[in-house]
Amino acid sequence: MHDFHYKNGALCCEDVSIFDLAKAVGTPFYLYSKRTLTNHYRVFDAAFADIPHLICYAVKANSNLALLKLFINKGAGLDIVSGGELFRGIKAGVDPSRVVYSGVGKKIEEIDAAIAAGILMFNVESSQELEVIHSRAKQMGIKAGIALRVNPDVDPETHPYISTGLRENKFGINLKESLNHYRRAARLPWLDIKGVSCHIGSQITKVSPFVDALEILKRLIVELRREGMSIRYLDLGGGLGITYNEETPPHPGEYAQALVEKAKDLDVTVILEPGRVIVGNAGIMVATVLYTKEAENKNFVIVDAGMNDLIRPSLYGAYQHIQPVIKEERPEIIADIVGPVCESGDFFARGRKIPRLERGELIAIMSAGAYGFAMASNYNSRPRVAEILVAGDRYHVIRKREEYEDLIRGEEIPEM
Ligand code: LLP
Repeated sequence: MHDFHYKNGALCCEDVSIFDLAKAVGTPFYLYSKRTLTNHYRVFDAAFADIPHLICYAVKANSNLALLKLFINKGAGLDIVSGGELFRGIKAGVDPSRVVYSGVGKKIEEIDAAIAAGILMFNVESSQELEVIHSRAKQMGIKAGIALRVNPDVDPETHPYISTGLRENKFGINLKESLNHYRRAARLPWLDIKGVSCHIGSQITKVSPFVDALEILKRLIVELRREGMSIRYLDLGGGLGITYNEETPPHPGEYAQALVEKAKDLDVTVILEPGRVIVGNAGIMVATVLYTKEAENKNFVIVDAGMNDLIRPSLYGAYQHIQPVIKEERPEIIADIVGPVCESGDFFARGRKIPRLERGELIAIMSAGAYGFAMASNYNSRPRVAEILVAGDRYHVIRKREEYEDLIRGEEIPEM
């Protein structure tokens, strides 16, 4: 469910007309519905109400401070993967004891900052990382909380670029070796073993891979406890999919029920790291049609947003639904909807059946709240677009459109 709908033929976000908004702020821009964001978070959180749990929102999906603050106010912790995300989280006022830090390549400065901040735990992805975190903790005289990110080798049946829990993926520690790594960790006095963790992939549209991973981690927890390790947290990562087109992912309630059932007698706090399922369908991108043209019997609709603003179609061949902001009776055509970037891969849709779009009109690229702005770049020296949050009949620019000056910040022409 989301709050983007037509009112008298004009697409609105909650009670704000997107047409009017575009006139006021220009295009392109990302647009988020506060009500949808709040609802998604609330539903996800409530689904786990029967067990001790902590929702650590995955900052990478959409890291705007206003969104982080919204979730933090609802009680969320954060899942971070870099020093930059820790910085954002702290700026947004997160309680560091509700932060988990994942990622295969944590730098020493990033580890130091996280230890100093007092995060809940590192999800450790290699034996070398374990040793580094220990030596930094010792140096700083602060014990570091850890879990090992175990690779359970389950197939999430998703796009290969976003599958992470298979043996061949770079993520996590091989399940078979994990017991030995835990034994090693238990001998390192500046580490506090708090739990076990995994994350098997993203845009997963079935419950079974999550349940399989949970079963595997459950067995590991039993073994670790038998060896005297006090396991208090079970971090199941993120990954629940959303509907972009015709996918039918489980409702968060169904997903949670399957997991709660298996985890309720475990005596752990279950951590979830949802990203996409919270923000994906709570955001869209609005763009203007610059030109339409026909070439080689093909229709092109050229819009003012490009792959640098939303890279998912180019990078993953991802489907993003596209619709006109003003709906009216008109014939349908088959067209490629493309951006201005100098790459043939710069498209939002190819061979898409859409109402015939006219020069100057607005389109909405739906389901763009997750991995949209967060993956944007300045390629082709294009300033990054604005982000806007709507609440009821009000809107707020939560990130202003970049200016040309922003493009060259930090650059210098040397005299040599
Ligand atoms: N936790 C960890 C350790 C992760 O690596 C991720 C996502 C998440 C949580 C959140 O997963 P989610 O609930 O959003 O599925 N750029 C790609 C998605 C990459 C996901 C990377 N990891 C896309 O646009 O589809």
